[in-house]
Amino acid sequence: QLKTGIIESGLDIVKRMNDSGKRMVVFYGSQTGTAEEFATRLCKEARYYGISAMSADPIEYDIETLKELKEVEDHIAVFLMATYGEGEPTDNAVQFHEFIKNEETELHGLNYAVFGLGNTTYEHYNKMGKDTDELLEKRGATRLSELGLGDDDGNIEDDYMNWRESFWADVCKRFGVFKSEDNLHIRNYKLVEHENMHTSKVFKGEMGYLGSYGNQKPPYDTKNPFMADLTVNYNLCSEESDRVVFHCEVDVSKARIKYEPGDHIAIYPENNSSMVEQLGKRLAIDLDQVISLDCIDEFSSKKNPFPCPTTFRTALTHYVDICTPPRSNVIKDLAQYATDENEKAFLLKLSSNEGKSQYNDWVMKDQRHILQILEDTPSLQPPIDYLLELLPRLQARYYSIASSPKIHARSIHVCAALVRYKTRAGRPAEGVCTGWLEKMIPSETDQFKIPVFVRRNQKFRLPRRATVPIIMIGPGTGLAPFRGFIQHRAAIVREGRECGENLLFFGCRHEKMDFIYEDELKEFEKEGIIQLYTAFSRDTDKKVYVQHLMEQEALKLWELLEKGAHVYVCGDAKKMARDVHKQLLDIIQEYGKMDKTEAETYVIGLENSFRYQKDVWS
Ligand code: FAD
Ligand code: 2AM
Repeated sequence: QLKTGIIESGLDIVKRMNDSGKRMVVFYGSQTGTAEEFATRLCKEARYYGISAMSADPIEYDIETLKELKEVEDHIAVFLMATYGEGEPTDNAVQFHEFIKNEETELHGLNYAVFGLGNTTYEHYNKMGKDTDELLEKRGATRLSELGLGDDDGNIEDDYMNWRESFWADVCKRFGVFKSEDNLHIRNYKLVEHENMHTSKVFKGEMGYLGSYGNQKPPYDTKNPFMADLTVNYNLCSEESDRVVFHCEVDVSKARIKYEPGDHIAIYPENNSSMVEQLGKRLAIDLDQVISLDCIDEFSSKKNPFPCPTTFRTALTHYVDICTPPRSNVIKDLAQYATDENEKAFLLKLSSNEGKSQYNDWVMKDQRHILQILEDTPSLQPPIDYLLELLPRLQARYYSIASSPKIHARSIHVCAALVRYKTRAGRPAEGVCTGWLEKMIPSETDQFKIPVFVRRNQKFRLPRRATVPIIMIGPGTGLAPFRGFIQHRAAIVREGRECGENLLFFGCRHEKMDFIYEDELKEFEKEGIIQLYTAFSRDTDKKVYVQHLMEQEALKLWELLEKGAHVYVCGDAKKMARDVHKQLLDIIQEYGKMDKTEAETYVIGLENSFRYQKDVWS
């Protein structure tokens, strides 16, 4: 399970800390980079307290050596643990989670604190943070500070800032340290400019290995994505629709990448090139200068913040996130470079405790990215290398694979909705990945390559036996994985094998404008492969959603459940998945003649036997 990005573990935590004179270690279970970013910040901050700290990716360490950490005098082990998907550990924390779950693990004498990163939109809110805190205590470790929980659906930055305040207060109390100076602008990396470096030695967007895009070798994963040809890309909605949904196909035949319906494909996008140009101009730099950002701490396992040597242009295009509104600590660190005193005071205010609501308003609600902040505070002129150090890494985007290898063994299909909107301040904005994909329309003359890898998703799988009926609920792009499921089952039917019933509940705004894959779905329906239920929410006065159709088909759904059907929900986590869940409970209550608690127990039973699976995102 979850093999993506897993490398040989091995480093000895205690040896590493002793060799580098550290007494605090901050482990991060990170999927999209936030936990890692917070870990870097916490380590930097430790210096204000005279504590030498290092951040650590649990997958790089022999986690058994955590047992010996008690040997390091006055040590502090912090765990910043994100929860991924349906209450799972992040890929890099799978082994760590197994380790602390093991009842034989003995951690007496280990001083620890935990901050969890989660999202209240999801059912298993912050499960990993809570589990880690509880399990470490069970294994005998000593809690230094209360568990903190961050909610990405609210303001995770605020949650983190509040937690770290009480964390440091507890550390001060416990170890008798105190905060000295917090206006130090501590640098982790120094800039090196390279002259006359041969291009073969310069990273051009590769994620881990120099030259890997020219010399492609499996296995393909986070550090080694495959450069796939984008062979098909068109809008599935009609021109009149206010939505744009792409159908993309990438050719993976040369990579022999294997996938199954339900898996995700990760795409590494590029930042908008005109934004990169504008940043170059605004910061008065030669974008094509070859540089490295080298770690100042020689003992750090992370030598560079992103692959180096590279150019400023490549770093701004492939490696750092220039579109997400910067966090308040970034603004604080940049403020020193504003020469206008009013602007400096304004930026410092934004990043202060008292300025929280102003930060939320001016940065978050107005969705100001770094270029806009630089435009709106003209005297701000930070050194580019400092900015590159402060900005988070640009992350891969995940998409539910919309094809089955039974029909498309050579390609992977994606169905992605274009993110495009106006910010509250009236500035046009677009999603990094979908905005980038939109510009790629393959033709005879234009060929496009995009870096991809497949992430297995064991939690969203067709039943092993094809005779088991399935109920698929997926409005909008939530249809994506079901296109794969349906193709898979169609192949089974066409092979002449027996197949269970396949019910699809699909919804969109307007039948005429955004009924994606309409023709093929109707073909499958005609062939008797699927039973199709469609809800068009904006064609009638009263909104019709997929759960309303479920209500209409309640008896049938109940009978199928009793026959062992599997239920799948895909798409919007925030509202749809919750409403569908509620509908399912209502049906079970009514037709199963159960009270609310019994119905909930029935649904938990479905979940535990993998008969109710979700692939939802916010
Ligand atoms: P980003 O640059 O990441 O921008 C998105 C951000 O823009 C939002 O987080 C929000 O902060 C902001 N934003 C968006 N709209 C507005 C608005 N109206 N007002 C203000 N701010 C706004 N997507 C699909 O289309 N199809 C799929 O099959 C699919 N599968 C997924 C599977 C998984 C497991 C996950 C985690 C996500 C999936 N997604 C899917 C979502 C996808 O990964 C991307 O998040 C999505 O395409 C947006 O990426 P982007 O880079 O274009 O936008
Ligand atoms: P709406 O935009 O008209 O509200 C795909 O996005 C479809 O899902 C659209 O028809 C959308 O309708 C609908 N949708 C919005 N909220 C929903 C909810 N809570 N449950 C189910 N469908 C929903």
